[in-house]
Amino acid sequence: MTTKAKIELFSIQNKTTLDTSLRNYKGYVMPCEFKNYLDDIEQFEVREDDVWLTGFPKTGTTWLQEMVWLIENNLDYEGAKMDLNYRFPYLEFTPIIQYRLRSVPDEVCGSIPNSVRELANMEERRFIKTHLPWELLPLQIQNGSVKPKIIHIIRNPKDVCVSYHHHGKLFPGYRNTLEQDVNAFLSDTMPYTPFWSNILSYWTKQSHTNLLVMTYEQMKKNLPASIRKVANFLGKDLNTEQVAGLQRHLCFENMQRNKAVNFQPMIEAFKNMKLYKECPGSFMRKGIVGSHKDELSQDIIKIMNTWIAQNTLNTNLKFDEFFVNVTQRR
Ligand code: A3P
Repeated sequence: MTTKAKIELFSIQNKTTLDTSLRNYKGYVMPCEFKNYLDDIEQFEVREDDVWLTGFPKTGTTWLQEMVWLIENNLDYEGAKMDLNYRFPYLEFTPIIQYRLRSVPDEVCGSIPNSVRELANMEERRFIKTHLPWELLPLQIQNGSVKPKIIHIIRNPKDVCVSYHHHGKLFPGYRNTLEQDVNAFLSDTMPYTPFWSNILSYWTKQSHTNLLVMTYEQMKKNLPASIRKVANFLGKDLNTEQVAGLQRHLCFENMQRNKAVNFQPMIEAFKNMKLYKECPGSFMRKGIVGSHKDELSQDIIKIMNTWIAQNTLNTNLKFDEFFVNVTQRR
């Protein structure tokens, strides 16, 4: 890492400023396009039998979505062949994809349906994914007038940051280097940041009986126990054989191959449209705990450790307990 980048990381005065395509909403960075969805999300009619999956981008939301959907749908592996994005839609998908594809002319990708309205009009039982912090959720959830089950996932921010950078590269025209993305992540100038405000907005509400917080690291360490924990929260009983079957379905290698969850169809579509200059990599990238060690320099790790210590100081989120002492690789 260059000295200049180090200084930038350390200096609060020198924070990366928001790109013109991003804005601040209630203290959180989101694409400009999000302003057209903010009110509809706030007023969104929540249903008691919805299941909400929340989590900062790259914390393992897709993995947990697949688990939750299968548990709630009586392990319907045949039904799970349908793309996860249809089974478990992403609430703010439209403004995010518009932002991600901002360098691609509209006529290349065509019009993108309004994801918030589609979910609002959905007649069947809803499974809803969002990366939004608590403060940007529908008011009915925030004020507790409707209490759907909410499952939230968290992950070591060092791994999240690296994964977020690689995720960006899946979108045509992405030019940020890893250094720039680390800087943006720490300066709160990436969509859904500030990271700590976002995850603590859920972490501090664990007394809510309709909220369960999971960690990526625990899922890696003991997937069967995680399956049982989620099933228990959802009021479902799974026998040993069913847990073992689901564990197999959810293992990284199987999810990596599974076209219904691996986002490969989207990547192939971009490839076919010749939108990439170089190979973008894949969504199911490494799937391990501690992958940041392969890519972040010791200097950056030190800076991030300080940032983590500062931000967890007055919380009961014991970083080592949740993210570090769980080191099993796949
Ligand atoms: P990496 O980029 O570190 O590999 P999200 O779904 O929230 O976008 O998170 C994506 C991250 O979860 C990626 O992390 C991806 O590889 C990882 N992931 C997805 N499915 C997984 C699985 N079955 N086991 C382990 N990690 C998984």
